Order: sequence, then C-alpha cells, then structure tokens
Amino acid sequence: MKTFKQLESQVRSYVRSFPAIFKTAKGSKLWDEQGKEYIDFFAGAGTLNYGHNNPMVSEALIKYISDDGIIHGLDKATTAKKQFLEKFHDIILQPRHMEYKMQFSGPTGTNAVETALKLVRMVKGRSNVIAFTNAFHGLTMGSMAVTANSFYRDEAFINRSNVSFMPFDGYFGPDTNTAPYLRKFLEDQSSGVDLPAAIILETVQAEGGIKVASDEWLREIEQICKDFDILLIIDDIQVGNGRTGTFFSFESSGINPDIITLSKSIGGGLPLAIVLMKSELDQWKPGEHTGTFRGNNLAFVASTELLSYWENDNLSNSVYNKEEILKEKLLEIQDKYPDIYAEVYGKGLIYGLKIPLRGFCSDVSEEAFSRGLLIELAGANDNVLKFLPPLTIENDLLQEGLQIIEDSIKSVLETREAMIGDLNNDS
Ligand SMILES: Cc1ncc(COP(=O)(O)O)c(C=O)c1O
Repeated sequence: MKTFKQLESQVRSYVRSFPAIFKTAKGSKLWDEQGKEYIDFFAGAGTLNYGHNNPMVSEALIKYISDDGIIHGLDKATTAKKQFLEKFHDIILQPRHMEYKMQFSGPTGTNAVETALKLVRMVKGRSNVIAFTNAFHGLTMGSMAVTANSFYRDEAFINRSNVSFMPFDGYFGPDTNTAPYLRKFLEDQSSGVDLPAAIILETVQAEGGIKVASDEWLREIEQICKDFDILLIIDDIQVGNGRTGTFFSFESSGINPDIITLSKSIGGGLPLAIVLMKSELDQWKPGEHTGTFRGNNLAFVASTELLSYWENDNLSNSVYNKEEILKEKLLEIQDKYPDIYAEVYGKGLIYGLKIPLRGFCSDVSEEAFSRGLLIELAGANDNVLKFLPPLTIENDLLQEGLQIIEDSIKSVLETREAMIGDLNNDS
C-alpha cells in the first residue's frame, strides 16, 4: 500500500474502502496479492454486470488482438464497430421497436451525459435543464451541474447554473407525488423555473441511495415532457444493461425516452459510452462533437459478445430469481435486528439496506471486507449498504455473501453495544 500512498493522489477513494492489492478476478470473485479471496458485491460500481473476465469476452479479445484487429480508430469505420452497431440494433433496439441513432462519446459515463446535455440545449435552443434531488450523473462540469450531492458540488468553484432541481419520486415520503409539483412549476410563469430543454433522470438513483422511481411517476414525467415540449433523458449508465432485470431500466414503465445514456457494463469492463437519440434529434454537424477515444474497439468486441445474453430471457429470469434471494435475506435481517432500524428497497439486482445509525454502514462494509466481501455505500450520508453483485453471480455465492453481511452487522452491533456497556460502567 506504501506505493499508492506515496505516489498516487489523495483523491484515491476505493483503495481506502478496500485496502488490498487485487491481482486476479473471475466471475464474482477477486483475489489479492496474498491470495485472499473476496466476493464482489460492488461489481465495479455497475461495470461488471457480466462478471470479471467473462470467458466470452476474454476469448474474443485474445483472438481479436492476435489477429491484429484495429485497437484505436477515432470514429473511423472498423469491423468491430460495424459488428457492434448491427448486433445492438438487431438484439436490443429492433425487438423493442426502438428507433435510435447511436453516438459514441468519450468512453466514460460523464462523457455521455455531457454529450446529451449539449445536444438537448442545441436542439431546443434553451439553456435550462431539470434534474432531481439525489441525482448523480458524473463529475465533469456539465454533469456535475446536474448532480445533487453537495460533497461533489462544493469541490468545484465554477458556474453550476442552468439547472433547476426538483424533488425525485418519494422525496417527501411515499404519500406525496412530486410530479404535479413539477408540473405546477412549469405551468406557472412566475415560478422562477425557466422552461428547460430537457429533464434528466435515473430510474433508480444508485449513488443517491437506491431510490427507485415508480413506473407511474416515470409515465407522469414523460407526459409532462410531452405537454411542455421538453426532451426526456434517461441516464441508464448504472442501472441499464440488465441491472433491473430488463436491458433498459425503464422498460416496465413503457416510457419512450428521447435520449438514453449508456456506459459502465455496456463495454463488459472496458471503457465505452453511448448516447442513444431519436433520429430527429440527430442534428449534429459532422465532427461537431468529437473526442479521440470515441468508440473503443476492444470494448466493441467485448460488448458484441455480451449482447448474446439478450438473445433470450434467461438472464432476465435469473436476475428476478436472484432478486428474490437478495430481498428475502435483507428483509430477514431487517426483522432480526430491529435495533438498526433498517429499511430495504431496490429493483432487480440493485438493492439498498438503509441503516440510519451514524457510521454503521461504513463499519459494516469494513467488517465485511475483513471477512472477504466488497460492498459499497450509497446515499447522501453514506447510510445505505449498496448491493450490486454481478448479474451472473451463482446463487450459492450470493447467499454466502449475504451471510457475511449478516455476520458483519451482528458483529458491529455487538461491538457498539459493548462500547455503550463500557460507558455505562464508567459513569
Ligand atoms: C447514473 C450515472 N451517470 C453517470 C455516471 C458517471 O459515469 P463515469 O464515472 O463513468 O463518468 C455514473 C457513475 O457512477 C452514474 O451512476
């Protein structure tokens, strides 16, 4: 760890949460340099939906490299890109009757969000965009402006204007629908909210604490967009690619977004980001929005292989089955440990266990790590344990990981109770 401390910037973060030097990984497991094994409930923050070193990807990449396939191509036509475009069209878009053009932005999520924001403003000739409380869309200037958490916003002394924040679904509790509130602000010429070019949202706010928008709310937001001539951007960077059980996270709602951003798992662990836009929105002039690493050919090769998972319903069905295992265990923990006041929510294979005791989740994550499991925190106060295993995790490994979580919760609770006992004895 000395090397990282000495040579790498202070900004490093996951190396602090998971202090080991990881050497190898396969499926839903990682091994460190000492050979210690870890179960992965973190999945590269949603990048490894298909597991580490998925054999389909490894074999295709080894073959592509040995055949001297094009590695870097800017946005030239390459065989790897052609195969990806055709397969994405045939397997994902066409069966869902979706007609979108694909734009390859720089290869990270925030690049896709920046691209989408630039496009909607250009198309509508309006500067304002509406985003939601607890949103996370990335940390470059435009995407940070639509990200809500002050921890990120405060670090940048730049202009974060041209964005109005509105309450996300459930912000005031389950009994208050926030969609009519948004509508009222748009209707009222004196609300102070400028008519936006677009509304951007995540259907499940992942970093924001696993806040799930209901299908009904999503349909109401879509209707508002139609009524006020506003474009709808769904940021599916973290919860697309099958995370909620369907390829796109919004499929159960039946909405038809104008723009969809995809990244993370679309490249199977390699950097790739895509903006899907309805054809009439494709108003770019050639070369107007460029970038040296648009469309990574190795990621195209990986992604083309992985799209085969969507040729049938097997993956979706297995996500729903695993969701049952996950949900059942979390509800059991909620019942068994009333002193932690846990709440459970999620969709598909993204679940949150909210524990409102200060520092508790971070203690559990640390304890779980020492017992061989990686789990991340989410939410404004890091008070949500975020369950995000690869979609391909085996059922027994999922159960093993969940048992580590329960044991860690029990251990943290006992330690805290012992500390309180000691305090009482002292006084
Ligand atoms: C919904 C969403 N949008 C955008 C991003 C930004 O992606 P990246 O970190 O690759 O820039 C993230 C990252 O966590 C995300 O979850």
